[in-house]
Amino acid sequence: MCSAKINLVISKLMNYYTICTLINSHDCDEIDFFAKENFASTGVVEFSLTEPQVDKILGERSYSGGDVPTEVIQEVEDVVTQDGVQKQYFFSDTKSAYNFRSWLENTYHYKGIFDSHEYEDWNEQWKKNYKPISVDEWLDVIPEWEKETYHSSAKKQIYIYPGMGFGTGSHETTYLCLKHLIDLVSRGVNLSSCLDFGCGSGILGIAARLFHLYDTIDLYDIDKDALKNTEQNIHLNEMPLESFNLLLPSMRKRIDRKYNLVFANILQNVLLAEAEYLANCLDQHSFLILSGLLEGQEQEVIQKYQALNPKLIHVKTLIKGDWVAVLMEQL
Ligand SMILES: C[S@@+](CC[C@H](N)C(=O)[O-])C[C@H]1O[C@@H](n2cnc3c(N)ncnc32)[C@H](O)[C@@H]1O
Repeated sequence: MCSAKINLVISKLMNYYTICTLINSHDCDEIDFFAKENFASTGVVEFSLTEPQVDKILGERSYSGGDVPTEVIQEVEDVVTQDGVQKQYFFSDTKSAYNFRSWLENTYHYKGIFDSHEYEDWNEQWKKNYKPISVDEWLDVIPEWEKETYHSSAKKQIYIYPGMGFGTGSHETTYLCLKHLIDLVSRGVNLSSCLDFGCGSGILGIAARLFHLYDTIDLYDIDKDALKNTEQNIHLNEMPLESFNLLLPSMRKRIDRKYNLVFANILQNVLLAEAEYLANCLDQHSFLILSGLLEGQEQEVIQKYQALNPKLIHVKTLIKGDWVAVLMEQL
């Protein structure tokens, strides 16, 4: 008797049911209301765009957090308005789900697709997307929850909590910056001050500190959520927060000193827009790492930076997948 009761509870936890439908945006509020009030829906998710729609809009353009221009956002909104909204309604029992589907079809003539799902622990699912990354024998990047358990044979380890800031180490553009840094360190180049322009998760500034850049490290981003994630990661790596300056655009005038090492892993349009500043913020015998460039975009960027600062020489380009990262040196 007792075990039968336990099984019932477990089987309720194990499954949930959904109805997927494509509806006009002006019906959304009303259908959401009735789904909850009359059919005991436990939640609703809205997918404004299908994957082919996203491909159609973005084409070969690629954007990262904070970089999508307003005209592209407008384009996305226009498509959503034309083509309707995809909704997924959640139910804890099949009867409610079927009743809702019949009502949707009879009242609004929208087709609903029923699906049954096994219960998933979303926290565990999300973690599966992040694995430790070996940059090479010098450095591993490890997700926060594996800090105590992962056995790393690399000389150094960075721990990252994958939050709102871009930069878990898995993206080619970040990886290439870390590679350039390790190349410089393994050549015994003397570095002290550092700016990470567009710091995201803070991964590059934290790596610089790990490789003994002891001056205060400036971490700059236009996104305040990225800076919150950076702060979280500084703590996670047991580094003193006072040895970093976390800067938003309102504090931009504080990045007016000269640096030995500057990272800028942003997209080409931002690297070009910020060239005047980035090409001229280097001290003597310093290095500039420009990443976030798709193969073929680097020449225009190098030429612009050299035109703005003739003392800059192009040292090396690293490639991974479709992405390139350029190392420049000011003698
Ligand atoms: C590709 S992520 C790089 C994050 C991290 N540095 C890394 O290498 O993984 C680019 C970052 O630049 C920031 N960003 C975008 N435009 C910017 C701008 N004009 N000035 C400063 N930061 C910007 C974004 O918010 C984002 O955090």
